[in-house]
Parts: sequence; C-alpha cells; structure tokens
Amino acid sequence: MKLKRKYITGFLLVLGFFVVVAISGCASTTDIADRSGAELWGNNCASCHNIRPPQTLTDAQWEVAGIHMRTRANLTGVETNKIIEFLKTAN
Ligand code: HEC
Repeated sequence: MKLKRKYITGFLLVLGFFVVVAISGCASTTDIADRSGAELWGNNCASCHNIRPPQTLTDAQWEVAGIHMRTRANLTGVETNKIIEFLKTAN
C-alpha cells in the first residue's frame, strides 16, 4: 500500500511538470503573436549589425532585404512579414 502511494505521488509530479511545460509553452507562442513589427525589428535586427533605419531602403528593397535577413535571423514567416510591414510604413 505504501509503495502504491509513492507511485501515485511520482505520477502526479510528472503530470504536474508536463502541465507547467504545456502552459508556459502556450504562453510564449501567444507572446510572439502579440508582438508588433516594430518590437520584433528591435529585438531581432540589431544583434549582428547596427540597426538599419527604415528610411535607408525603399519598400521593394525592404522586401528583398527582409527575406534575406529572415534566414539570417531565423525568423518565422509571420515575424518577417510583420517586420517588413513595419519598415514599409516607417520609411
Ligand atoms: C545573424 C546575423 C544577422 C541578423 C540577426 C540580421 N542581419 Fe542583417 N545582415 C547580416 C549580415 C552578415 C549582412 C551583410 C550581407 C550578407 O552577407 O548577408 C546583413 C545585411 C543587412 C542589410 C543590407 C542589405 C542586404 O540585404 O544585404 C540590411 C538592410 C539588413 N541586414 C537588415 C536586417 C534586418 C531588417 C534584420 C532583422 C529582420 C537583420 N538584418 C537581422 C546579418 C544579420
């Protein structure tokens, strides 16, 4: 009987761990979805070189540079599009 109780406690601990992982996993996904293009740009585009101000390129040039930098910065399509949209409204 005592042994069984130990197993149940262990099981609940493992279950609790997965619940915590699942909740924090979902929280971070919503986080990214909520971030604006400007925020994503500030967070991702200044880690390798100085931030390139929006005015440095035209809309068409941002499209190309954005796709080019998507692979460098390891961004998702949604993130890249948000950044490009922001840069095109601010140039
Ligand atoms: C992992 C490092 C890295 C990150 C992150 C990064 N860049 Fe770059 N970027 C480079 C390098 C290196 C170059 C020089 C050109 C090349 O060899 O690709 C460059 C060049 C550029 C250029 C010059 C034009 C071009 O296409 O080559 C622009 C504009 C630019 N980056 C914008 C951005 C933007 C906007 C972001 C965020 C989405 C970003 N970069 C994120 C490394 C990075």
